[in-house]
Amino acid sequence: MTGQPKIKERAVFATKFAAVATTVGSAVGLGNIWRFPYEAGVHGGGAFMICYVVFVFLIGIPVLWAEFMMGRSTRSNIFGAYDKLRGGWLGRVAGIIGILSSLLILSFYSVVAGWTIEYLFSSLLGWLNFTDIGAGHDQFVELTSGWRPVLWTVIFLFCNTFILFRGVTKGIERASNILMPLLFLLLILFCCNAFTMPGFGEGIRYLFKPDFGQLTPSVLLSAMGQAFFSLSLGLGCMMTYASYFSERTGLMRTAVTTAFLDSLVAVLAGVIIFPAVFSFGLSPEAGPTLVFEVLPHVFSQLPGGQCWSTLFFLLLFLASLTSTVSMSEISIAYFCEEQHMGRRRATLVSSAIALVGGLLCALSFGPLSDLTIAGMTIFELFDYFTSNIALPVGGMIVSIFVGWMLNRPASVDRLAVKSFHMSLMMTCLRWVCPGAILLILLNSIGLL
Ligand code: TRP
Repeated sequence: MTGQPKIKERAVFATKFAAVATTVGSAVGLGNIWRFPYEAGVHGGGAFMICYVVFVFLIGIPVLWAEFMMGRSTRSNIFGAYDKLRGGWLGRVAGIIGILSSLLILSFYSVVAGWTIEYLFSSLLGWLNFTDIGAGHDQFVELTSGWRPVLWTVIFLFCNTFILFRGVTKGIERASNILMPLLFLLLILFCCNAFTMPGFGEGIRYLFKPDFGQLTPSVLLSAMGQAFFSLSLGLGCMMTYASYFSERTGLMRTAVTTAFLDSLVAVLAGVIIFPAVFSFGLSPEAGPTLVFEVLPHVFSQLPGGQCWSTLFFLLLFLASLTSTVSMSEISIAYFCEEQHMGRRRATLVSSAIALVGGLLCALSFGPLSDLTIAGMTIFELFDYFTSNIALPVGGMIVSIFVGWMLNRPASVDRLAVKSFHMSLMMTCLRWVCPGAILLILLNSIGLL
């Protein structure tokens, strides 16, 4: 005996590559392929796109770096991290926002992931109709009305729980290492196909040509929310993952790589969706159902559409799993480390809460579609509230905390970055991030 207290051994990602692969696995998911095109479509295309990219670099990378640093230096969940760094009440607020919002996101995310599994099976069994132009919308309504989405949501949550039962490093690492590159290749292939569509020019112009007249407070707010959502920021998700990084992982490099690859996937998804939207005379403003209505048309263009569509929905399902595993990890790490639950019990508690939320969200496309709060269904409310309010507020707390309240982050995490990066990041965290987030939040509620 050395006389030291026994420290419970914490898992560490085996290699640097695994650290990048898992953070990219968390970041890349439905946020890029489902949420980005639908938000861009609702908010006017180009104007949204520009803001999104600016926010990823100006706010996303610094906050990502700050979360990484807090996580690795404390090797804790979000509550524990703030606690060890003397975050006081501010840290507890961030912790509560993190745990609650991650469960809300898990709820509506599981519904969309459930649609993905349903599309996967339908296309595998040859039930998806790829020929009729009007089919996309009708098919979506048919597949997602009534109680059916509930079943698929439950199936998805079951898969998520199963993976989590297998522990931190094994299941997650192996899956993301192999599958993310494959998904990427498939997206590039579909992009090439988009070139051949009659609406290619119009779609690309819509996505990339900003109309600054469209730059309203709500576009700014949604683009900022999307940047946070897509990078899994603001709720301590990346913090929790970084608590499993080894000492050798370069935080700055991992942050930049993650942000770059994540935005690339979102842009590729846009390049696939919008040419198809204009080629088939659909409306870009369809909202959350957009991608699921448009994709069957995209596959109908390809020889062997059924195979492509099956493969695509399979990979999208797996990409969603690597993301939900990461968002579940926020509350699981908290339940284990702060509430002293066993890992399995913690996993079951998180899944049970998400199940209740997931049922409400799944039904809000059918039996509960009339139940609205502030004009939004439960699904839309969870989505809007978490992405546009909770994540930016969580991100603002991280940046204020690391920028102003930790006096020398270098001493907290010696291995964080070289000094130039450090001062650049600190400037962003002190001034740019909190300032921009606050202005956009105030602006969107009309106070500015
Ligand atoms: N970034 C993921 C996506 O784009 C979603 C996600 C995973 C997330 N973990 C998160 C969003 C934590 C917010 C917080 O699909």
